[in-house]
Amino acid sequence: MATEGPAMRRIQVAEHPRLLKLKEMFNSKFGSSPKFYVRAPGRVNIIGEHIDYCGYSVLPMAVEQDMLIAVEPVKTNTLQLGNTNPLYPDFSTSSNNIQIDKTKPLWHNYFLCGFKGIQEHFGLSDLTGMNCLVDGNIPPSSGLSSSSALVCCAGLVTLTALGMNLSKVELAEICAKSERYIGTEGGGMDQSISFLAEEGTAKLIEFSPLRATDVKLPSGAVFVIANSCVEMNKAATSHFNIRVMECRLAAKLLAKHKGLQWNKVLRLEEVQAQLGISLEEMLSVTEDALHSDPYSPEEICMCLGISLDELRTQILSQNTRDVPIFKLYQRAKHVYSEAARVLQFKKICEEAPDNVVQQLGELMNQSHRSCRDMYECSCPELDQLVDICRKFGAQGSRLTGAGWGGCTVSIVPVDKLPGFLANVQEAFYQGSDASFAPEKQSLFATKPGGGALVFLEA
Ligand code: GLA
Repeated sequence: MATEGPAMRRIQVAEHPRLLKLKEMFNSKFGSSPKFYVRAPGRVNIIGEHIDYCGYSVLPMAVEQDMLIAVEPVKTNTLQLGNTNPLYPDFSTSSNNIQIDKTKPLWHNYFLCGFKGIQEHFGLSDLTGMNCLVDGNIPPSSGLSSSSALVCCAGLVTLTALGMNLSKVELAEICAKSERYIGTEGGGMDQSISFLAEEGTAKLIEFSPLRATDVKLPSGAVFVIANSCVEMNKAATSHFNIRVMECRLAAKLLAKHKGLQWNKVLRLEEVQAQLGISLEEMLSVTEDALHSDPYSPEEICMCLGISLDELRTQILSQNTRDVPIFKLYQRAKHVYSEAARVLQFKKICEEAPDNVVQQLGELMNQSHRSCRDMYECSCPELDQLVDICRKFGAQGSRLTGAGWGGCTVSIVPVDKLPGFLANVQEAFYQGSDASFAPEKQSLFATKPGGGALVFLEA
């Protein structure tokens, strides 16, 4: 399983309306036919938020919505990108000189991340060009990982055009690393599930080494995604990287407190592994070692015995160098408690698949409270949506993805689904002071979908 690459399927394009439409648009744009197509799905994270970059396991599933790219390799060195959505302008560049502008998260830069990741992995300086037409149906900036799906799709497009092979795990690792060219210090959850997802099952994704284990969700419940309609593009602000750095600093202070080699430690999980204690014990260590008042950069330097310059240049990322305060206690408490909730969630799904909706829902509710109060990655609209979802029958509801906007995920007993959808629609989207753009209003039940694939015309 670990060495298997993404599947390649032969299909009759004429039987798939979306592919057929894409093929026709490709024809009229480039005057030729695509040679192959690649799809990579978005995801919904059921539980385990903001802990992948701390080294902890997460529990996402792929959604049906995806990025789909029609591709024709060409003999020149020009990479030409088009998008079926007119909001995203055409882009073209020389495939030998890929520049990714960190200051502006423009759509084509995500494609370039995947392209460059494969180019670098194989140490290729001279890549042939391609004509590509992208068609995405994952709502953007909504926490369903449209950007990582594009990076993964572009990575697989490039690999296929080269006629090379890589396992899904290798592809996920390459794409997780190369997405950081955009400037955000994400973990590997989104890229891992985009490649490793399988229809019908959620996955526990573990890191170092990367692996995915099936988690069978209870049959009595459905997972419903609802968009708060607040857009959050994590590359456009520093919120995300500040959290990554707060976790890194918390890990270093905890390590120092416990007499470990703190300068080698980067992630909260490493502190736990080196101490060889449980997550619950890590919560007590956090209480003893850290205070709940925010830390100034000066105080952190004093605790670690380093200069401000060392803190800024050797530990912090570029866009977090001037952050005036860091909340270390709250972030570490969230991470260790959330990591424990993921394991409990998986255990409940495995051991007692019936009548567990309430228990799973409670874990999701706790996760939302921790994201809201300790990690401070929610927003008023998300909190309101979560409350509405619970009021109308969800046993649990929480923000999903990076937060600060985007979607919620709720666990809803199957028999309550129709009423739930109707009531949430009315209360949130048609509520008195709501003025949401109709194209952003999404509220839908979702099932675990499959991972990235290559299609060839039969
Ligand atoms: C983004 C990142 C992921 C993860 C989530 C929060 O989606 O890309 O790696 O950190 O936020 O759980």
